[in-house]
Amino acid sequence: MKKINYIEANRLAWNEVAPIHAEQNQQELIQSFQKPGYSCLDAIETQPLIEIDVTHKAVAQLCCNNGRELLSIKNMGADYCVGFDISDNFIAQAQELAATSHIDCEFLQTDIYNIPISYNRKFDLVYISIGAICWMPDLTGFFAVIARLLKPAGYVFIYDMHPILNMFLEDDQQDPPQLANSYFNTEANKDENGLDYYSLKKYSAAPAYWFPHKMSDVINTCIQHDLNIKKFIEYPHDISGIFGHFEKINNKLPLSYILTAQVGQGQET
Ligand SMILES: C[S@@+](CC[C@H](N)C(=O)[O-])C[C@H]1O[C@@H](n2cnc3c(N)ncnc32)[C@H](O)[C@@H]1O
Repeated sequence: MKKINYIEANRLAWNEVAPIHAEQNQQELIQSFQKPGYSCLDAIETQPLIEIDVTHKAVAQLCCNNGRELLSIKNMGADYCVGFDISDNFIAQAQELAATSHIDCEFLQTDIYNIPISYNRKFDLVYISIGAICWMPDLTGFFAVIARLLKPAGYVFIYDMHPILNMFLEDDQQDPPQLANSYFNTEANKDENGLDYYSLKKYSAAPAYWFPHKMSDVINTCIQHDLNIKKFIEYPHDISGIFGHFEKINNKLPLSYILTAQVGQGQET
């Protein structure tokens, strides 16, 4: 049987949705970034970023999409900023947004696993937000990239959807929702309905593949890479735009989390 090239399939699927997303948000983002200091980040993630202190720091974003989050961090006072993403079309949107807002950020089209070694140890902070980790077939390899990008004492910041949501179907409106999948699934999930999580409209699409990673996988992979966990908070609010209705159920589930970790002393990478 032919082996699926998950990364290439995902590049095509993200390229396919890029113009569909741009139609819905690019002009509005171009307008918003005309305001000096504009940030699209919510208050919950802004606070720990203030605590880490991004001022004058070098920041990388993995899976930066259209760049709006990294441009916001730059507007918080960061210095050298680089966004990495596999989608040629989203990188083009990020570059357009940076150019029209006159914000100096670099955006590079690359598979995360292939980020050039010239970026090793260049960053004080690696920022990862909603919907990045699930596209990584190999979590250990992903954290190895984070570890090599960070300077000594650098931070990784993750604000993501809680993996417990992998157990449920997104259109389940029941209270309580039905358990649909095992939390311990490890197989790739194939999605052929498109990636338009703004309008939630389905379309017949190039297949995309995402990978369930448990909360303990994320935490243990930090530990394996000598990333000392500084903060781990679970929240009852949804950041996916898909599970918003779960905020209203009676017995609350963790819907999102923030994890920060710092490169340990004596790390040799
Ligand atoms: C859900 S989006 C991230 C969204 C981002 N947090 C935001 O809100 O704009 C996921 C991104 O991961 C990127 N991606 C998926 N697999 C990747 C890989 N192997 N290397 C680099 N980027 C990848 C996609 O192109 C897409 O832009």
